[in-house]
Amino acid sequence: MSKHSSKVIVTGGAGYIGSHTVVELVNAGYEPIIVDNFVNAEKSAIQGIETILERKVTVYEGDCADHDFMKGVIAQESDIVGLIHFAAYKAVGESVKKPLKYYRNNTDSLLTLLELMVEHNIHHIVFSSSCTVYGQPDKLPVTEESPKKPAESPYGNTKQICEEILEDCVNSEMPVNVVALRYFNPIGAHVSAQIGELPLGVPNNLVPFVTQTAAGIREKLTVFGNDYNTHDGTCLRDYIHVVDLAKAHVSALNYLGKKSEASTYNVFNIGTGTGSTVLDVINTFEDVNDIKLNYTIGPRRAGDVEKVYANVDYANTELNWKAELSLADALKDAWRWQLSLKKD
Ligand code: NAD
Ligand code: UD1
Repeated sequence: MSKHSSKVIVTGGAGYIGSHTVVELVNAGYEPIIVDNFVNAEKSAIQGIETILERKVTVYEGDCADHDFMKGVIAQESDIVGLIHFAAYKAVGESVKKPLKYYRNNTDSLLTLLELMVEHNIHHIVFSSSCTVYGQPDKLPVTEESPKKPAESPYGNTKQICEEILEDCVNSEMPVNVVALRYFNPIGAHVSAQIGELPLGVPNNLVPFVTQTAAGIREKLTVFGNDYNTHDGTCLRDYIHVVDLAKAHVSALNYLGKKSEASTYNVFNIGTGTGSTVLDVINTFEDVNDIKLNYTIGPRRAGDVEKVYANVDYANTELNWKAELSLADALKDAWRWQLSLKKD
């Protein structure tokens, strides 16, 4: 696709990963068109993006599962070359309690977008999938060929179902080229501290809990178990800086733009290729930010995977993409972002 008029619809573009991706898209010469209903984002994210870019960005406020609304967006913006579909609900625990909410939003939005792609001759879609599809893998690191495991939650199941929907569309020779990116654990924030993650309520994820504890918002971090089969007994994950992850979407669009075939399905692991334990994260956070973190060892969290990290060879070679930032960079940036929130 030519970069000059390359308008790309970014659903969920005001969210955590979407906002960082919008910045990288503009840096790479694409023209992002954000569609977000702000169910899990603040308007301040748009201001943050605009401050970083020193320009305005196009934003449509609405539900990307709403066919008529999206048709209006596409009509207003001619020459859309592709879509990046971030919009979804993502709280694993809530999805167990409210499965229909998750199945409705996460699948409906994708179905609507696919229908619109056919109606309007839009051929490229990048979809946000997750390493959750691998469950606890039998072999590490996981490659894209590693078997999928039954989902542990309705949220996880929506990612598997959406991957299957996309694959079935391609198998039916619908004229769409798909890249599904299986993200490992995104952490950190933009180095400017203008955008970052905005967890609502008590965070479930490790790094927001770490930064909120360091900021005194939470009294203490509990490490969920230290009797796992890892070098220090705590669970191991592949933590990837959100800016590296954002850049993977630019690479995915470039990759799709070069495709001559009409209907292809492509899956990539997006991680660093390295695993870090919970204690590695805590120790690195303390070191790079010169802070002592109040933490205690507690029992295992139900449903936690012991260890998972990515083989990223396929993304390295095919997408010409590689994670460049370190765990230390991500934890410095996460802390800088936390401090910027505290000032508000
Ligand atoms: P996020 O909640 O910060 O961003 C999602 C955005 O989508 C929000 O701005 C929200 O307001 C918007 N949205 C939700 N439903 C919408 C709808 N129907 N119409 C329009 N906008 C809608 O989440 P995130 O962390 O940026 O995640 C982005 C995507 O990546 C999601 O699909 C998520 O499942 C997936 N993912 C996230 C992680 C992670 O750890 N953050 C890991 C793997 C996969
Ligand atoms: C989460 C999601 C998963 C998603 C993945 C990648 C949940 C339950 N799962 O899993 O669907 O695919 O991110 O983004 O949200 N930890 C603590 N104390 C805490 C919080 C976490 O010790 O207070 C530990 C956990 O046990 C885990 C590690 O930190 O070992 C990372 O946890 P988390 O950030 O929740 O991510 P995942 O469990 O990988």
